[in-house]
Amino acid sequence: MALKIGCVGCGNMGGAIMAGLARKGGYELCGFNRTASRMRPLEELGVRVMESPQAVAQAADVLVLGVKPYQAAEVLAQMRPELTAGKTLVSVAAGVSLQRLTEAVEGRCPVVRCMPNTPALVGMGVFALCFDDPDLPETSKADIQTLFGALGVCVELPESKFTAFTALIGAGPAYVFAMMQGLVQAGVTLGFQHKESREMVTALFGGCAKMAEQSTSPIMQLRDDVCSPGGVTIAGVNLLDRAGLAGLLVESVLAANARGKEMES
Ligand SMILES: NC(=O)c1ccc[n+]([C@@H]2O[C@H](COP(=O)([O-])OP(=O)(O)OC[C@H]3O[C@@H](n4cnc5c(N)ncnc54)[C@H](OP(=O)(O)O)[C@@H]3O)[C@@H](O)[C@H]2O)c1
Repeated sequence: MALKIGCVGCGNMGGAIMAGLARKGGYELCGFNRTASRMRPLEELGVRVMESPQAVAQAADVLVLGVKPYQAAEVLAQMRPELTAGKTLVSVAAGVSLQRLTEAVEGRCPVVRCMPNTPALVGMGVFALCFDDPDLPETSKADIQTLFGALGVCVELPESKFTAFTALIGAGPAYVFAMMQGLVQAGVTLGFQHKESREMVTALFGGCAKMAEQSTSPIMQLRDDVCSPGGVTIAGVNLLDRAGLAGLLVESVLAANARGKEMES
């Protein structure tokens, strides 16, 4: 029998998760969103529209909580009466701890924390999954790994690593887009049209990501392979090294991590 997945809060992230699962197929899907019109595209993909958070909690086995962090407690209070040990709550709410989630559901069902990043919106997310809840059965854990594995890459992490994950991978798209923007700008400076520069740079990032994924060589080796002695690339790379790009990226992630820790305390 198909696993029943329900989502409360089908906005950008909740909606992307449900749309991704609908496209993959194999699940029975339902959802509720405060603004009903946001459910329309999901309904067209076969997601059953429910009338309340309670109705979703009653109907589904896996409950995805897709509301903003400050809305989580109120929505969980509405869902609580329908929660049982056989169901699993999966929260994507950033910064809402396992302890707060468990308290909000009064321990009625096991809780999983999930931290996605924005490429989840196009089906290529990286998801951190926290299975620290001792009440989570192994079968439910496997179901959730399969579910998010259908939407991108999953990493299982203890909750203590969630801030670090957020600083590196959650914030990661901002670092990557900043680098992309700089290269698009360089292309325009060299006389390419903005559109063609963007297309070329986008393909460059896609191609490099594929190479890094498929190769077993260290990333530094992949970089050095492009640098012919006395050639064009080494002239550019020397300047990047002088400016300390790698060190700057490390410092940026550490600054994000420090801010995340500050926000937790
Ligand atoms: N977007 C990201 O990149 C990202 C990354 C990591 C984690 N997250 C987490 O994902 C969660 C959602 O973020 P988002 O960017 O997707 O925000 P969003 O687009 O605003 O989605 C939140 C949705 O929850 C709905 N909602 C609010 N109260 C509700 C209620 N009582 N019952 C049912 N639905 C309700 C909102 O409805 P309305 O349409 O009426 O406002 C909205 O559609 C957040 O907790 C965030 O921390 C997001």
